[in-house]
Amino acid sequence: MPEEELSPTTRILRTRCEIEGADPVVTPLFQTSAFEASSPHFYTRKENPNGLEIEEVIAGLERSTHCLSVTTGMTALLVVLGLVPTGGTLVINTLIYGCTYRLCFREAKKRNLKLVVLDLSAGDESLSKIPEDAHMILFETPTNPFLRTINISSLARWRDKHAPGMLMVVDNTWATPLFQRPLECGADISLYSATKFFGGHSDVMGGFITTDRDDLHEEMSAERFYGGMILAPHSAWLIRRSMQTFSLRMREHERVTTEMHEFLESLSCIQSVYAPEVDGTQLTGYGCILFIEIGDELGQRYQLFRDALTLFSSGTGMACVTSMVAQPCTGSHASLTEDEKAAMGIGKGLIRLCFGFEDPNDLKRDLTNAFRVLQS
Ligand SMILES: Cc1ncc(COP(=O)(O)O)c(C=O)c1O
Repeated sequence: MPEEELSPTTRILRTRCEIEGADPVVTPLFQTSAFEASSPHFYTRKENPNGLEIEEVIAGLERSTHCLSVTTGMTALLVVLGLVPTGGTLVINTLIYGCTYRLCFREAKKRNLKLVVLDLSAGDESLSKIPEDAHMILFETPTNPFLRTINISSLARWRDKHAPGMLMVVDNTWATPLFQRPLECGADISLYSATKFFGGHSDVMGGFITTDRDDLHEEMSAERFYGGMILAPHSAWLIRRSMQTFSLRMREHERVTTEMHEFLESLSCIQSVYAPEVDGTQLTGYGCILFIEIGDELGQRYQLFRDALTLFSSGTGMACVTSMVAQPCTGSHASLTEDEKAAMGIGKGLIRLCFGFEDPNDLKRDLTNAFRVLQS
């Protein structure tokens, strides 16, 4: 069957790197730093069969021409931000992962960039505020926190007309290419923290950068090679194995999260539940993350709530097989100043819940008990 006719699930399962003279059913780990002169490969800092195979899997899902694997999601962001010239203009969305926000400020300071922070979820109103000489616009959709949508296609249409030199970069970690493909909507680069849904088991770190543009790919490949930022073979192998169950895991995340969303909506102690807008066009499905607002008063007692939960881990991370709880103001956005948090609307009462594959009835009982402790 022609590859492009296969469903994403089948395609993930069937993508393999070829190994001459050996026919294993699973690609083994190429734990080697170098290759003989007769090999098509050269040196693992440049490429390795395990990395090449997982890059092909991710490019297949994204339907992109190129994919680069790097050590972590932050590495992907650092490599991409390197495309903005010194003294250039970078635009980012207000709601964005805390470390990305800090990284952009660091890069702006180091390389004399003009950094513009805008609320891109405000639609046409926000478009007119984008400087037309900007070199790059970077955002996540759904946003972190609050899971608001940024319309990639309308932004791309505006860019084509007003700022054709502006690179559009989407951090697609939370949606994943199973549910949203930014390049097809007009973005130039779609990037990932593979530490989340791709790895899926909280045991490996990685990042990916996809693009259809040869020039951007070449530039970023060189940066990866000289900076030594390539994904290690063992990490590539682990992520590749996790990808075999990616579609299954995403569907299960969706099933559990939909049930938990309904449950959370029914609780009177929750002021708001934030879920993404699955419009079937840009975003066709959703993973495991929801935010709830319980108000500042209860939020002050977050630790009591967290400690009362027995089925939710409170470590850094998410999008794995077990459920997790976090308070953005002390977790993902802890590196922001109080003023920056306030500007994003991140108070003590905002809580992030990520649902794994536990039985939803057990999760509901656990949450009910923790809310009882919190209010007692
Ligand atoms: C949306 C998003 N992008 C990038 C990153 C950074 O990824 P990593 O932790 O793999 O460096 C994270 C981490 O939480 C994230 O949530």
